[in-house]
Amino acid sequence: MQDVYHLKGQHSSLIIGAPNGGVPTVLYWGEALPDALDHAQLGLLQSLPHPAGFLDSIPPLSLVPEMGRGFHGQAGLLGQRKRRDWAGQMQLDQVDVDEDGTHRLRCVDPQAGLQLDIRVSLNQQTEVVRLSAELTNTGDTPYQLDHLGLSVRLPWEADELLTFHGRWIQEFLTERQPWPLSPVLRENRRGRTSHASFPAMIAGEPHFSENRGQVWGLHLGYSGNHRLVAEKLLDGNRHIQLGEWLYPGEIELSAGQTYRTPETFGTWSGRGLNGLSQQFHAFVREQILDLDVTKRPRPVHLNTWEGIYFDHKPEQLKAMVRHAADVGVERFILDDGWFGRRDDDHAGLGDWFVDERKHPGGLGYLIEAVHQQGMTFGLWFEPEMVNPDSDLYRAHPDWILQVEGYDQPLGRHQYVLDIAKPEVFAYLLERLDSFLTEYAIDYIKWDMNRDLVQPGSNGIAGVHEQTQALYRLLAELRQRHPSVEIETCASGGGRIDFEILRHTQRIWTSDCIDARERQRIQYGYSLFLPPEINGSHISANPSHTTGRSLNLGYRLITAMFGHMGLELNVTEMSDAEKAQVRALVDLYKQHRSLLHTGTFWRLDTADPALQAYGVVSGDGRSALFAATTLELQKQMLLPPLRLQGLKPGTDYELSFWIPDGALGPRTGQSELEQAGGGRFSAELLMQAGVQLPILNPESALLLALKEV
Ligand code: GLA
Repeated sequence: MQDVYHLKGQHSSLIIGAPNGGVPTVLYWGEALPDALDHAQLGLLQSLPHPAGFLDSIPPLSLVPEMGRGFHGQAGLLGQRKRRDWAGQMQLDQVDVDEDGTHRLRCVDPQAGLQLDIRVSLNQQTEVVRLSAELTNTGDTPYQLDHLGLSVRLPWEADELLTFHGRWIQEFLTERQPWPLSPVLRENRRGRTSHASFPAMIAGEPHFSENRGQVWGLHLGYSGNHRLVAEKLLDGNRHIQLGEWLYPGEIELSAGQTYRTPETFGTWSGRGLNGLSQQFHAFVREQILDLDVTKRPRPVHLNTWEGIYFDHKPEQLKAMVRHAADVGVERFILDDGWFGRRDDDHAGLGDWFVDERKHPGGLGYLIEAVHQQGMTFGLWFEPEMVNPDSDLYRAHPDWILQVEGYDQPLGRHQYVLDIAKPEVFAYLLERLDSFLTEYAIDYIKWDMNRDLVQPGSNGIAGVHEQTQALYRLLAELRQRHPSVEIETCASGGGRIDFEILRHTQRIWTSDCIDARERQRIQYGYSLFLPPEINGSHISANPSHTTGRSLNLGYRLITAMFGHMGLELNVTEMSDAEKAQVRALVDLYKQHRSLLHTGTFWRLDTADPALQAYGVVSGDGRSALFAATTLELQKQMLLPPLRLQGLKPGTDYELSFWIPDGALGPRTGQSELEQAGGGRFSAELLMQAGVQLPILNPESALLLALKEV
């Protein structure tokens, strides 16, 4: 049997092999190698000496590293069968290659009664690797699975790590550090993807930047619990292992039963973080999302939440609808507060019936008003939750995730429904389906506002089943109502990952719509996710979550590099403010097709006070960049901005768009500023750069480029 497999993209190669006949390992992942490789040469080059003070041969760092072969690091498989079969040795048994190039590697351990089926593929257009595994109990007694993680071995050059952190209103915080000798662990037990730990890690050559250095990025597409660990071994080898974090006893495989891991997605780039994120963006667009922004441009939203909260009054809502249409809004979303007895967040969740005290006769009047203005309508739900103060809970107190005999802690005054229970699933499906059938709703904001504690289902830990049930519920609804778009929200960005994106078309990235904070949040977001699904709203002043006031132009430019919306009470705006917002919404509409289909670039800047990024159209003929200041810079001037992604050999017409209030104290303008731009070659724009005007802190301007 051939024991080395070369998966090849246009720019990268992934070589896996099982030189010792066990579970395959990553032998190479980096710049593309020629098709015809002499595997024996590779084997010889990678053959290892036997260091003293160690086992007589170095244990393999395979895709599922095995304790039973002397691997003393983070084992890939942990489990047992009545205290036996806990340290087996798998043998590679069979390899099949599908038409699309997916390699299916079957490994077996007959003694332990286990079969491991690993799938690995490399998408040629986007260079993204997909990796997953199935473990089947081939024995005749139950097998208790504690952990199944897939390890990707990385080269020694990968010696700096970027990890993700965060909390509510602070999603996608990034931290960089030299890859330490102790393992770096990101474990999530919150029962949803979580604000605290976007399930991804990036490793790279030391000091990798937006444009330079080799980087390897890995993401676990999963909306339940996860465990990611980056580990350097005693021998200097290193790996990142990704898998689901399981509660004790959560997975028991009966004879013949199979457990499937979530999918891991990875990519290598030799051109720094931009290459990495561009490959992930292209992959998400082509392989994950069910969304075609060229056929259905993303409408400008107005979401009622921060504008009116729970205070729904038909006359006021109708006025909001008129004012929204007047400033160019195209989709009106009624947020929390329309159902049950939902006057605040203490009651009503679970009672998915219109509150006729607030909306006499149902939502028809509002939807009609929305349609009259040429807009479409969206509605908020939080299906997985129930308040103790609700008719649903009073009727079915046994429908929640819990461990009987203990007090179940509340989160935002609510419990979590056990949606894997068929009767709960059926209730939610019927309720949601009936709204989508009765009303012309073209959009759902699907919220999920608490972490899980004691998530017991019939006494057994149930996050895995809960997560699968969620995917089934979303899939069933989408199948019944394929044109309805769904937004994934979990108190903002608590449930963002590639798997939820198979079922949803927009992300509520954060409850923080303070533009200054959003700049940072959207930086981390952009490493893995494309702009057109980033729900990004213009907030009121001061911001409701931070108390900070920011100028409108800055708020607009920040919202513009996502799927833009408004989240404020439009009826309270002055005519002058409305005129300004209208102009900004128009500007966004002019550029949205570029912004939502082009290539996203973050720019390396020589001053941390300056954050800059932009989008270049696929054909390279137009581009839009934003230069934003996070704080007052230490020097008088901002550094020249070196653009990226332009078409060499092309001249561009450069123009600035500088919102009111953005310019800082100055006694004169540069010639470039006076001229409002000019005609420049791509090479000069990219290599020499553009000197920026003097900007206030927390300000932004746009640079628009058109091929001449
Ligand atoms: C969560 C969401 C908000 C809003 C509220 C409604 O916090 O993140 O956007 O929908 O719920 O209760």
